[in-house]
Amino acid sequence: MKNTALITGASSGIGKEFARIHASKGGDLILVARRKDLLDSLKEELVQKYNVAVQVIQKDLSVVGSSQELYDTVTQNGWQVDYLFNNAGFGGKGAFLDRDLEADVEMVRLNVMALLKLTHLFGKDMKARGNGKILQTASTAGFLPGPYQNTYFATKAFVVSHTQGLAHELKGSGVTVTALCPGPVATEFAKVAGFGGSKMFDGAASAAQTAQKGYRAMEQGKVICISEFQFTFLIKVLMPFLPQSMTAAIIAKMQQS
Ligand SMILES: NC(=O)c1ccc[n+]([C@@H]2O[C@H](COP(=O)([O-])OP(=O)(O)OC[C@H]3O[C@@H](n4cnc5c(N)ncnc54)[C@H](OP(=O)(O)O)[C@@H]3O)[C@@H](O)[C@H]2O)c1
Repeated sequence: MKNTALITGASSGIGKEFARIHASKGGDLILVARRKDLLDSLKEELVQKYNVAVQVIQKDLSVVGSSQELYDTVTQNGWQVDYLFNNAGFGGKGAFLDRDLEADVEMVRLNVMALLKLTHLFGKDMKARGNGKILQTASTAGFLPGPYQNTYFATKAFVVSHTQGLAHELKGSGVTVTALCPGPVATEFAKVAGFGGSKMFDGAASAAQTAQKGYRAMEQGKVICISEFQFTFLIKVLMPFLPQSMTAAIIAKMQQS
């Protein structure tokens, strides 16, 4: 394996597009998700089209211990991860106290704990080698209060903050870390999170375009990549002048649309 990217959540959406971009550049791949049939068919597509080496690992990363198992499988096979895409994640609509707590705990285990663990394990190896790139799929949600999808927004705030701090610690090490922060993207995310038919996803960005922007930002070693201009404007220009309660009210309305 050479120039290898490990991508979590590669069976659909943004992760699948990261895999296509990386393969188109001649890079090998380790694809991770729960739905093995989808990973196998993506592998077939990429091997046929780009003649790259692709490994498929079926793994539920919300299970305690699964990130360590993934790392052990990769290292025992002698595969070197040059690019880590911590991309797997899901959201969930509803008022916090009315939601099933276990679903939110599972979300934290995947969106936060698996990402933290994989970044620590593979990041250490990258730092020892003096090179490597890490892309964390965060969200514009990471900059906002998130009534009616509260835990999800909080998980992404963790990812944004952790990436910013880690990027500073890694300066001069040869390793970079980038947080991709999209607004709504047309993937399976909306359905999984309970937003099927929601107006919030009207005019959503495409997964392919979003992945392209994130991949480019990662190559350039950028720390934060907000992938659509209107959200950059909202978060960097408008929001700092709005009272927090007004921002929360706007987000609450959007989540319930
Ligand atoms: N779509 C949006 O509007 C949007 C906006 C901002 C940020 N994001 C973020 O983008 C990332 C990718 O989401 P997406 O939009 O591409 O949605 P998606 O199409 O639903 O993809 C989610 C991916 O995560 C995998 N996954 C889910 N639970 C998993 C688990 N327990 N263990 C391992 N893999 C798991 C899924 O694969 P399996 O089901 O096969 O396991 C799938 O490959 C997420 O972190 C999401 O929070 C999405």
